[in-house]
Amino acid sequence: MTNPKPPEKQRPGGLAAVVLAAGQGTRMRSAQAKVLHPVCGRPLGAWPVAAARAAGADPIVGVVGHQAEAVETALRAAVPDANLVFALQKEQRGTGHAVICAREALAAAATERVLILCGDVPGLTARTLDALVEASDDAEVALLTFAPEDPAAYGRIVRDAEGLPVAIVEAADATAEQRAITEVNAGIYCVSTALLFEALESLSADNAQGELYLTDLVAHAAKTGRRVAAIRVPPDEVAGVNDRVDLARASARLRRRINEDLMRAGVTFQDPETTYVDAGVTVGPDTLLCAGVHLRGATRIGAGAEIGPYSILQDTTVDSGTKIRAHCDLDSAVIGPNASVGPFARMRPGTVLEAGAAVGNFVETKKSRLGPGVKAGHLSYLGDAEIEAGTNVGAGTITCNYDGANKHKTVIGEGAFIGSNTALVAPVTVGAGAYVAAGSTITQDVPDGALGVARGKQKNLPGWAKRRKRDA
Ligand code: UD1
Ligand code: CA
Repeated sequence: MTNPKPPEKQRPGGLAAVVLAAGQGTRMRSAQAKVLHPVCGRPLGAWPVAAARAAGADPIVGVVGHQAEAVETALRAAVPDANLVFALQKEQRGTGHAVICAREALAAAATERVLILCGDVPGLTARTLDALVEASDDAEVALLTFAPEDPAAYGRIVRDAEGLPVAIVEAADATAEQRAITEVNAGIYCVSTALLFEALESLSADNAQGELYLTDLVAHAAKTGRRVAAIRVPPDEVAGVNDRVDLARASARLRRRINEDLMRAGVTFQDPETTYVDAGVTVGPDTLLCAGVHLRGATRIGAGAEIGPYSILQDTTVDSGTKIRAHCDLDSAVIGPNASVGPFARMRPGTVLEAGAAVGNFVETKKSRLGPGVKAGHLSYLGDAEIEAGTNVGAGTITCNYDGANKHKTVIGEGAFIGSNTALVAPVTVGAGAYVAAGSTITQDVPDGALGVARGKQKNLPGWAKRRKRDA
């Protein structure tokens, strides 16, 4: 659910943002719109939305076109606290045309300034955006520039004799001399709303691509005597994602940033190169993340915990002091403090492990609550079960929760003992302090303090082996 809240940072006069996200991203060669491709667990297009919000933008206008509905839904879900509104650009007729599509929403917002970002640039930091907004305090247009290794198809920054930017010339329209310019346009601007609206009126499609170029804003500003400020930033921060090679590079850079932020906050990484933490995951200090760990979605890890090698946690909460050992797969589980899980445990949605509980190797749980100190050490399936404090679940215990049509519950009281290789045919209750004999198939409730035995009685035939050999 979305729940827009005003940004923490307030900008005097107001600041709106436009995020251009209407393009298909042909070079991705994908059935999915480019901005929907995930980068560290968050759609590509959500990164600039989150950055704009952190810079104090309210509202944020997403310009959408290709797969508009899917893009809207994904962006709202990924940044639920942003005040997002959407403008439809049916046909992609250039970046200037895209901003024209957002004009109505911008006019309604009536902010003094507008931040313009590209939906396919995920690496912008809050610090850079702050610097951009501050530069627009005494310039009517401020923009980010960079010097990539290969300026390729980027717009070139043309400066006058005094070094002030006077135009951006797209590569397709540039003269050989202009193409030799190494400083290029990042496509990220902070501009006074009045100037933006005026410049949008003046755009023409008289260029090599027959598009309305937003970049002509700079020439318009210079011609009408407005101040243009350009801030040079490191290429990594403003590199756009155009194909899947760029996507992998951007993911690697952002992953490193997430990991290093966590390290600075007190988390130990055994091997950051192989540890994958989604944006928005939280990890407490003195927690150890071992090699090959994946922490996804809304996962929350407490302090002094340990996540063992190659464990994958999705939307899972792990309390302080808990140890998840190697090769566990946890999905939407809630694990209390000082618990122990794995190695090789699988927890499916609805699993709750209370303080000090222990689940060992080859145990699968689903929609089950294991109370404080419950132990299920080996080779079990526990589904739709409620197990009270201190109970011991023997190796190979299976809750038979499914009758082919419906699911049923197993309830086990406090301090019970379930012998190894027990089948508990639900619905069934085992009382507090009760025992179940190993190898039982329990189809009836076992009262508090009783012993339930449900198996064939053992018979020994003396001398049987010898007779068998003789008869052969
Ligand atoms: C643009 C700039 C170029 C700059 C480069 C930086 C123009 C004319 N050129 O070039 O100076 O160096 O960005 O990356 O602005 N989009 C729409 N609707 C459209 C066209 C684009 O929403 O009609 C969106 C795209 O989805 C994308 C962003 O705008 O997110 C940038 O568009 P793209 O076509 O990649 O811009 P470039 O031509 O590379
Ligand atoms: Ca283009």
